[in-house]
Amino acid sequence: MNEIKIFSPATVANISCGFDCLGLAINDLGDTMVFTKTDDQKVSIKEITGANLPYDIHKNAASAVALAMLQKHPADFGLEVSIHKGFEPGSGLGSSAASAAGAAFAVNELLDKPFSQLELTKFAMLGEQVACGSPIADNVAAAIHGGFILVQQYDPLKIIKLPVPSELEVVAIHPQVTVKTKDAREVLPQNVPLADAVIQWANVGGLISGLYTNDYEVIANSLEDLIVEPARKHLIPHFDLVKEAAIRGGALNAGISGSGPTIFALCKGSETAKNVFKNINEVYANTGIDFTMVHSKINTQGVTILEKN
Ligand code: HSE
Repeated sequence: MNEIKIFSPATVANISCGFDCLGLAINDLGDTMVFTKTDDQKVSIKEITGANLPYDIHKNAASAVALAMLQKHPADFGLEVSIHKGFEPGSGLGSSAASAAGAAFAVNELLDKPFSQLELTKFAMLGEQVACGSPIADNVAAAIHGGFILVQQYDPLKIIKLPVPSELEVVAIHPQVTVKTKDAREVLPQNVPLADAVIQWANVGGLISGLYTNDYEVIANSLEDLIVEPARKHLIPHFDLVKEAAIRGGALNAGISGSGPTIFALCKGSETAKNVFKNINEVYANTGIDFTMVHSKINTQGVTILEKN
């Protein structure tokens, strides 16, 4: 194989109660990337469209991952990378994670698959480190594995893939404001009251139970975040308005996607999701803040191959 074109999905990290440990992948939003073998043993970026991102191979999440993989598994070829961003960086939908996970997956294919999915997740975490300063796993693991994932442990890294109830859909709104992950992490409490922690970890257990049993009521009851959402929501204009509109439209619940500013709502079924989309669209149109929205099924496959030759 000389060239591979892949799709790498956007992701929702945290999923309300699961700060830094739960993630899910979205079907209809993501990056398209092309990796072409070259005769020299260098990594270069040919083209980036859809976003203003660094061409410096040590500062770009995708090329940094490719470099690390070729260092670990030397090859007799180099790589030229083209990145077509399908959504904006800084959205809270795992933009750097999509590029990092896409690179890990594609380079592994071109190397004849020497690495496991867990190893690919670790390489992709290096891309997160380059792009955002922390090697967070929740977005990249969801992009690589698809579906819902639990980062059960960081050291050593353990990822558990969770089932996806078939009628579950996501609606998300991206208000055009900037929330830096670094700033969103600085507002987090360093200590948590035990009573809140009990509710939070019970909700994580409830959510996972609901995913395994297709129990949408249990999922809805578990999508509550007592710790991170209250500390971060002031960074997102009209967060409560969106959440109310989503719930009024029939959503199971809504929360902050990753570190924001995107707000996501999980819904049972397409009709409800369309209703939630309409409700959120209507209320946000009155705020005077620009926004984009997406309605999608959950991506269950992770990174996928579009073409290879
Ligand atoms: N779990 C991370 C956070 C996602 O919420 O800070 C952002 O990379």
